[in-house]
Amino acid sequence: MSVQTIDIGEDFAARLLGWYDRAARALPWRIAPGDTAVPDPYRVWLAEIMLQQTTVAAVAGYFDRFTARWPDVAALAAAADADVMAAWAGLGYYARARNLIACARAVVRDHGGRFPDSEAGLRALPGIGDYTAASVAAIAFGRPAAVVDANVERVIARHRLIETPLPLAKREIRAALAPLVPATRPGDFAQALMDLGATVCTPRRPACAICPVMGDCAARGRPDVEALPVKPPKKAKPHRHGVAHWIERDERIWLVRRPTKGMLGGMRALPGGDWTDTREPEAEAGESAIVSVDHGFTHFDLTLVLVRRPAPPNVPPEVPDAAAEGEWWPISDLDAAGLPTLYRKLTDKMLEIAR
Ligand code: ADE
Repeated sequence: MSVQTIDIGEDFAARLLGWYDRAARALPWRIAPGDTAVPDPYRVWLAEIMLQQTTVAAVAGYFDRFTARWPDVAALAAAADADVMAAWAGLGYYARARNLIACARAVVRDHGGRFPDSEAGLRALPGIGDYTAASVAAIAFGRPAAVVDANVERVIARHRLIETPLPLAKREIRAALAPLVPATRPGDFAQALMDLGATVCTPRRPACAICPVMGDCAARGRPDVEALPVKPPKKAKPHRHGVAHWIERDERIWLVRRPTKGMLGGMRALPGGDWTDTREPEAEAGESAIVSVDHGFTHFDLTLVLVRRPAPPNVPPEVPDAAAEGEWWPISDLDAAGLPTLYRKLTDKMLEIAR
């Protein structure tokens, strides 16, 4: 009589990959299961950077535009900073775009235009942290790396009933995941876990009945499954306030570039004062405030009011005024300015009432 042994890791991976073969989402950066095409590390890396802190739906259009305009890492490395920043506008977390440019240039300069193929090699590049190093290593190079994003955290915390609150739980989650990663198809395995978290093991009302790994899920049937993973207590967000200036002449408005360091660093913006913790800027704007917007950043909420300011008489509109570090931008072409969402909301509102 033979003794049958069951390797939980192998079994888990097999069930998950079987499900992925049937249910994988078709995504522009993804090579479908069964397709023998070789993944392009540039496309994998670009998608993973874009997908941090953002949804698949928000990224798809940006990914298509970036890859059409800059089809490989050498093209992106050679692009002007301002063009890349403008193309990134609306995706948020602009430090990622600055790091994206730095990383592309480092790959060309230091690696002959080829991405390093190990987690450690990738981790040494600008803007590549533990998550991105693991995901690119697994998806682009078939390395058996443990890829842990928020979706994977949820799946593993539930499957293994890890009740430690985040972020402390991360270490346990990673330790639970590592032995499950298969030697073959580790990239598909990582993406299968992401898809499972996004479509089945969802934050609310998970579809446990159709889950491929429900058989040995430790949270199965628990009424509090939605409470996993346990989140840290929410911190109250501070509310900040600021004024932006609409300076117009001859159908153009004055745009500046924000300092490289700090919020929206390196992005085009409307000129204006500092953002403060008091309502003073709004009070000062008083009656002259034309429109205002509320915008949520990760660590604070902002109310920004727009006031009209007279144009300085000495700057001819068609000449960029280098000394003032700004430019007269045609109002009819504001789409091409690459304004971040905060300023886009303000200019949209302004143009709406001016119409
Ligand atoms: N989120 C982050 N990376 C992803 C990927 N490769 N596929 C699906 N969702 C993701």
